[in-house]
Amino acid sequence: MEQNKSSDVVWHHATVTRERRQALNGHRSVMLWFTGLSGAGKSTLAHSVEEHLYQLGCRTFTFDGDNVRHGLCSDLGFSAEDRVENIRRVGEMAKLFLEAGVIALTAFISPFRSDREKVRSLVPHGEFMEIYCRCTLEVCEERDVKGLYKRARAGEIKNFTGISSPYEEPVDPELVVDTGALSLEDSVSMVVEFLRDRGVIKRGNH
Ligand code: ADX
Repeated sequence: MEQNKSSDVVWHHATVTRERRQALNGHRSVMLWFTGLSGAGKSTLAHSVEEHLYQLGCRTFTFDGDNVRHGLCSDLGFSAEDRVENIRRVGEMAKLFLEAGVIALTAFISPFRSDREKVRSLVPHGEFMEIYCRCTLEVCEERDVKGLYKRARAGEIKNFTGISSPYEEPVDPELVVDTGALSLEDSVSMVVEFLRDRGVIKRGNH
């Protein structure tokens, strides 16, 4: 997937640029990359942050692992190879949303450090914001919202993250949210405050 098979295609430059879209929106576009174990609360947090941003008048879109795997990535499973491709596609898609002036939120386990770093390198410095939803395996397994951990322990699901497939913790994420301990409300506030600190959304206006 590395090589470009369409070398004779010429890039077309748009007159409606990302800068102009951002000016129209009144906020920057960035990628908020939520990573963590299944059941850590990535989707819940990403969607709640999105709701908050929407109410502030921001343009947003949330990519959610479980949903994307029904469409764009429905041909992929959970082998290491398929997960790499899953994250590559999502990264490229989220990059397009950045161009569109949108705050792109993604909620994928994205267990491999190297894949997350590849996505980081797709966009200008400072526009990929890795948000580690930190929650111990014990807590995720205890919650087991979808009943998948139980099935993974029983050997019914192969390559399950945290059980039979690795999760590589972020080394230096932009933000760590202890989703295992914090309330949803406090977690959302943390992310929104972080976005204000980084100048993604303005104090006052938003
Ligand atoms: S990723 O590893 O490629 O980033 P992704 O976030 O898209 O994973 O999908 C994870 C979701 O798929 C989990 O929340 C869970 O509901 C479901 N799932 C099904 N099988 C597995 C598995 N083997 N490992 C992890 N999650 C799985």
